Amino acid sequence: MQVLKLGGSVITVKDQPMTADDDNIRRLCEEVKAAWPTPLVIVHGGGSFGHPVAKKYGIAEGFTSERQVLGFTRTHQAMVALNTIIVDTLLDLGVPTISLSPSTFIMTRDGRIEDINLEIVGRLAVKGILPVTYGDAVVDRTKGFSILSGDQLAVRLATGLGASRLLFGVDVDGVYTSNPKLVPEARVIESLPLDKLDGYIKIGEALTTDVTGGMLGKVSEAKTAVNAGIEVFIGNASKAGVILKALRGEAVKGTILKR
Ligand code: IPE
Repeated sequence: MQVLKLGGSVITVKDQPMTADDDNIRRLCEEVKAAWPTPLVIVHGGGSFGHPVAKKYGIAEGFTSERQVLGFTRTHQAMVALNTIIVDTLLDLGVPTISLSPSTFIMTRDGRIEDINLEIVGRLAVKGILPVTYGDAVVDRTKGFSILSGDQLAVRLATGLGASRLLFGVDVDGVYTSNPKLVPEARVIESLPLDKLDGYIKIGEALTTDVTGGMLGKVSEAKTAVNAGIEVFIGNASKAGVILKALRGEAVKGTILKR
C-alpha cells in the first residue's frame, strides 16, 4: 500500500482563485494510470480552491461567529469541485476511482484527527479501487469545525493502513537546506534520517496563502510516519515522470525521510 499526497500548488494555480492546473492534473493522472494497478490512496491539497475560502471565513480557527457557517460549507464545496476534476480525469483514463469526503468519515479534536473510518478506505484500496480524498473542512469536537490538512490526513492514512511508502508530490525538488524560493544557493537534501530532521529544517513559511503550514508543517507531520517505519518521499510533482518513478519505487530526485 502506498499513499500519495498531491500538493495544492501542483494541481491548482495558486494565485488565481478556484483555478485548476489542468495540464498538471492530466499528466499526474496519466502517471497514476501508468503505475496502475497498485494498492494506492490519493490525498490532495486545497491550493487556490480550499485555502482562500477557508482563510476568508477563518475556518481553521474554529467556530467563533455565525457568518462562518456559510464559509465552512463553501470551503468544503470548493474542495469537492477540485476533487471532482481529479476523480473525473482518472475515471476518463479508466482507473476505478472513488471520491471520499473527509467531512463524512473523519472528526477532529483541536484540529487533530480523532475519529476516522479507516476500514472503508482500506477495503476499497484492496479491492482495486482508488480512493481519492483531500484536505477538508471537518467537524471538530472542541472548536466546532477545523481545517484538516491533506498532509495530516495522508500521514494518518499511511500509518493506519500500514502503508510501506508515503509520497508527497510538491512544487519543489524536495526538502532544501533553506527556502529555494528565497535563497538561490539552497540545495536538496537527498536523505534525511530522523535524528537529523529537526536540526536540518529551517524552511521558511510558504510563500502564498497556506492555512496549514507549508514544507515545515509537512515534514513535522511526516515524522509520525517515519517513526512508524514508513519510508517518506518528497519530490517534484510538477516535473514529468517524478511521481510515476516514485510510485514504481524507482530512484528519482527528491528527499527520502527514514528512520
Ligand atoms: C487544505 O489542504 C485544504 C483546505 C484548505 C480546505 P492542504 O493544506 O493539504 O492543501 P495544500 O496542499 O497546502 O494546498
